[in-house]
Amino acid sequence: MEELVALCKRRGFVFQAGEIYGGLQGIYDYGPLGVELKNNLKAAWWRSMVYERDDVEGLDSAILTNPKVLRYSGHEETFADPLVDCRSCKSRWRADHLNGAGCPRCGSRDLTEPRPFNLMFKTNVGPVEDGSSFAYLRPETAQSIFTNFKNVLDATSRRLPFGIAQIGKAFRNEITPRNFVFRMREFEQMELEFFVAPGEDEQWHERWVDERLRWWQEQGINGNNLELFHVPGEELAHYSKATVDVMYRFPHGVEELEGIANRTDFDLGSHTKGQDDLDISATVISNDDANARLAVQDQVAKRWTVPYVIEPSAGVDRGVLAVINEAYEVERLPSGNERTVLSLKPHLAPIKAAVLPLKRNHEGLVEKARAVKRMLMKLGLGRIVFENTGNVGKGYRRNDETGTPFCITVDFETLDDDTVTVRDRDTMAQDRIAIGALGDCLKERLA
Ligand code: GAP
Repeated sequence: MEELVALCKRRGFVFQAGEIYGGLQGIYDYGPLGVELKNNLKAAWWRSMVYERDDVEGLDSAILTNPKVLRYSGHEETFADPLVDCRSCKSRWRADHLNGAGCPRCGSRDLTEPRPFNLMFKTNVGPVEDGSSFAYLRPETAQSIFTNFKNVLDATSRRLPFGIAQIGKAFRNEITPRNFVFRMREFEQMELEFFVAPGEDEQWHERWVDERLRWWQEQGINGNNLELFHVPGEELAHYSKATVDVMYRFPHGVEELEGIANRTDFDLGSHTKGQDDLDISATVISNDDANARLAVQDQVAKRWTVPYVIEPSAGVDRGVLAVINEAYEVERLPSGNERTVLSLKPHLAPIKAAVLPLKRNHEGLVEKARAVKRMLMKLGLGRIVFENTGNVGKGYRRNDETGTPFCITVDFETLDDDTVTVRDRDTMAQDRIAIGALGDCLKERLA
């Protein structure tokens, strides 16, 4: 983990937020390469969830949340971790992380009884701070998918099964944030709420578990480092009938990367109750009540049903940590030297290609290299950089370390015959390629 944290800082992937003032625990900023990697991971998720499917719509909802939403969702009452205080050194811990041991800081066994600590952040809304005008910072993106269920349904005329996907920030006042971007207080989630007919939920749950395992492997995660954890009944969240966690071998241990829950009709049912204070327990409701309820109409049976929900919910930051960890390698070369390489899948690489003139500030080479960059940019492959340092060897090493799949060197031969050297990050092979063929070559290799 220390090596990854050091690489992330050195190369501009992740910084401690507010570092010059001592930082803020559990809060991180993404640097120039981190923002690209994170955006690429989110884009890959969005592509597979929304663009490649014909049964999912997207949403981008607000972070500030009406407290009623989180009252009826059950979060006000139950979204808490067990907190203990050490009477000796006054530190605070999550009881379920202590595994019966003493205080991790001073070793004392003089701890208070665990008490529930609600993880939601509150903030004041409007100019009057009278306690009644507060909002929560959402602890999961899911709730606004549920509260927008009817809006999306009316706008798109969807039928079951269909899903609503959302990527966005979530906030939790974690008692002990730790392990870099693994457990943060401000983080990002990629969540799909997939609405299905009651009775088809278990089958869809299995399909989504398989699908999500497959997707993580497409992002470069070795299947041997992934495992499934069937959450036991007593550990299930208040809304869940069954949850399967996708666990990944992080540097600090095997932990949750994504949770895939069968949320039943809990949320749509509770928010329906929240709207008009009806006591609903049945999933089948009459036509008269339909407008007030978050339900769908079964055209054949002519009745209204509150759908069940299957929810694959992944952490963006945990995903970034996992793909960096998988890709990071320190290789010993035949020469005896070492090289650090980040073998990211090309679609995730922050920079797709670096164009390097052999000699710094050489007018002809610089002009040609800039033209190559412009030509590649037009292909929409992602970020292409021009690096006018004049030290190609160093450029290769730096780009290996940041995961750039290709370096393109423009040299004096280029000025004669319009060919460039394309160097492959993984094999370190160098091919001479005509500039006219470069676009197709990169498109193929970056796909
Ligand atoms: N809507 C369901 C939900 O929020 P969760 O298991 O609490 O379920 C889903 O969170 C995912 O969000 C987790 O699998 C994890 O990847 C990510 N996540 C949760 N808490 C996090 C934290 N404090 N820091 C970073 N990521 C977190």
